[in-house]
Amino acid sequence: MGSTSTQSSSFSYSDSFESRCLQRAHPYKDGQALVDGIVQSTTFARCAVGTNPEHQYSRVSNPTVSGLEYTLGSLEDAPPAVCFATGLAAETALFLSLLRAGDHVICGRSVYGGTTRLFQQLFSELGVETTFVDSSSADAVQIAVRPNTRLIFVETPANPTLGITDISAIAKIARLAGVLLAVDNTFLTPVLQQPLDLGADISVYSTTKFIDGHSVALGGSIVSRNEQVLERIRFIRKCTGGIQAPFNAWLTTNGIKTLPLRIRAQSASARRIAEWLSDRHEIEGVYYPSLLKGEAKAIAERQHLGGHGAVVSFSIKGGIEAGKRFVQSLKRCTLVEHVGSVETLITHPASMTHADVPREQREAVGISDGLLRLSVGIELVEELISDLEQGLVAACLNKRASSVAEEVCCAN
Ligand SMILES: Cc1ncc(COP(=O)(O)O)c(C=O)c1O
Repeated sequence: MGSTSTQSSSFSYSDSFESRCLQRAHPYKDGQALVDGIVQSTTFARCAVGTNPEHQYSRVSNPTVSGLEYTLGSLEDAPPAVCFATGLAAETALFLSLLRAGDHVICGRSVYGGTTRLFQQLFSELGVETTFVDSSSADAVQIAVRPNTRLIFVETPANPTLGITDISAIAKIARLAGVLLAVDNTFLTPVLQQPLDLGADISVYSTTKFIDGHSVALGGSIVSRNEQVLERIRFIRKCTGGIQAPFNAWLTTNGIKTLPLRIRAQSASARRIAEWLSDRHEIEGVYYPSLLKGEAKAIAERQHLGGHGAVVSFSIKGGIEAGKRFVQSLKRCTLVEHVGSVETLITHPASMTHADVPREQREAVGISDGLLRLSVGIELVEELISDLEQGLVAACLNKRASSVAEEVCCAN
């Protein structure tokens, strides 16, 4: 899918992908505001005892949140999505809706640290066992399947090392085993990857990231073409109260209008930066799908729709100290625990997003202490490259300056 519509589900939309990002659930009435207002009301009046209006109480449903759900569902040829206060609230509701004590989950080793924490520190206490596997190996996933496996959960490209999981191959394994497959598609969004078209049952999002795109609204969403799954997730949301706030849904709906433009531009810049970094002598390693080789590259090219996303990870020679000097020298890249904004952001995963993942587990998936993750924004790519260049030069010059200072100190 991507920029053309398909009729692959019973619930289909005829507009182009770009138009769906702008569309509203209902046509305009004469003189109506171009941009819908926010319905902040927590509750909705009934004209008589026993009526059953569409919206009754905003913990269950709200017109502004429903508008966002309609748009997010339409971007994957699916019924309306189910939206949550955050990405982790969405994941929690998904796992509560599918898993019981005694069930088993297969989870990719390289997923967002908060996902690992949910399985390792929360659902384990509820009697759900999780096996973490290298999901870029379909064989490893196949071997991990047990009679009590209920869910396979993967994130691709992996966070933060950008390894690729072959969604179609894992979907085949899941189908044969009678297990549901969920894909965290936060990094690529439906613009650059359509997990449901590739055979997954569920797409999971932190809409806080690229989908909002402006760092102003927390949110999460679940998209599926399986009505039973959606109904159960809506029920869990009603029971646990994790629905998204109307104001955040309104901000996110407005953010989506420019999503295709933003993410394609950010993705093109990220590719240029990754290729530029890979030629620099100060760099130890760069992780970006266009730099992969062999089968992994072929899968990325098949699976991604015209771009590999805006996230590039890399490590600098000289380890953590050089990394710190580099980050401190940057003028256009802000150090934060976040990806997906229109501004360029940089993160140190080992101390930030993946701090709760045990060191051995972090290192096993390539998250060294010196790894940095760049989320490329919409600035001019030339300006970003010159900022990164002066950062690399400063990291090396300062290293020389501090080793000269150390030598002088030692001599004294
Ligand atoms: C890939 C991915 N999934 C899920 C989450 C959780 O989302 P939220 O912060 O909205 O709870 C994050 C947050 O960084 C993420 O990067």
